[in-house]
Amino acid sequence: MIKKKTVRDVDLKGKRIIMRVDFNVPLDKEGNITDDTRIRAALPTIKYVLEQDTKLILMSHLGRPKGQVKEELRLAPVGKRLQELLGKDIIVCKDSIGEEVKKIISGMQSGDIVILENLRFHKEEEANDPEFAKELASYADIYVNDAFGTAHRAHASTEGIAHYLPAVAGFLMEKEIDFLGKLLYQPAKPYIAIIGGAKVSSKIGVLEKLLEKVDALLIGGGMSYTFLKAKGFEVGNSLVETEKINLAFELIKKADEKGISLQFPVDNLVADRIGADARVKLTDTNVIPKDMIGVDIGPKTIKQYKKEIKKASTIFWNGPMGIFEIDKFAKGTIQIAKAVASAKGTTVVGGGDSVAAVNKVGVADKIDHVSTGGGASLEFLEGKELPGIKVLEDA
Ligand code: 3PG
Repeated sequence: MIKKKTVRDVDLKGKRIIMRVDFNVPLDKEGNITDDTRIRAALPTIKYVLEQDTKLILMSHLGRPKGQVKEELRLAPVGKRLQELLGKDIIVCKDSIGEEVKKIISGMQSGDIVILENLRFHKEEEANDPEFAKELASYADIYVNDAFGTAHRAHASTEGIAHYLPAVAGFLMEKEIDFLGKLLYQPAKPYIAIIGGAKVSSKIGVLEKLLEKVDALLIGGGMSYTFLKAKGFEVGNSLVETEKINLAFELIKKADEKGISLQFPVDNLVADRIGADARVKLTDTNVIPKDMIGVDIGPKTIKQYKKEIKKASTIFWNGPMGIFEIDKFAKGTIQIAKAVASAKGTTVVGGGDSVAAVNKVGVADKIDHVSTGGGASLEFLEGKELPGIKVLEDA
């Protein structure tokens, strides 16, 4: 198991703390935050650090501005939301480095919070430039990383900076490592994983690793059709990654050799097109009629998957079961979200879309752990060492 020092293990009293958070939140066209889960998730560490009479400097990225200043990706709305959640004023900087920032930081009083501007406005952040990292480090005495969602990136604020300051984890980082670490190293058996989403290609690593760990792997969503094609079924106009059919076939073979129950939809909701006005029907088998597209798992599959969820002691879910953004195609994902929420076993949900699904259904608080990491949680479960975690001090 991975054990890292946390904010509890260092004396923060009276110090200047620089803390990496992942406030990469979704925004609508007007720039409003549509989901503040990641901001809320950092609150326990922020509050704890402030209780130690500290000066707190927060830093994050937002979107992918690629080293350019993009007005729509400024952190001001994030600062405003955090201010509302904390009920406390926050100073939002117009840059993440430079004289103006230094002046603001040197004027900080105990209990003050400063948030630096979007780190990715400087290309040095993603390049993990040592000078940029050193400049960030010069603002503080201790570095805290609570940005699990960005821990798979070796950037100046997630990796480089930790070489110049004592570096510890925040509570969110600790919780993510604990829950995901249990899935990786000592899951209570039976352990099942439900994996959905559009493409096999984005989940190859995690599928391969899961086949070494789980007792059953339940597949749903767009990726099922590449698997069903590999098994020789007709899939109509459903999404198929032709170049991944061989790989899907290999995964089926691997599961077979290991005696792992690899399950696919046995019935499907099919549509003549993708859209709210589509004509839909249910198939009674896993054959998709010509000219139709598989858009959700059917009722028999839902029943079968629910049975597995009920029996399991550990359940990991990543990726929706259909195109759930369209209400007509959302039933499978909603039913799986409800089943996972009412399961007796330990439940972990990871990845943007499945997290959005549990939020949409309103059951997030009934899941033992909803990971704030998309790519990070998958890379962690693949067994990869995440640079933003590796660099923190061992406990
Ligand atoms: C995420 O949303 O997964 C993280 O914030 C990382 O963002 P990135 O994929 O742009 O590095």
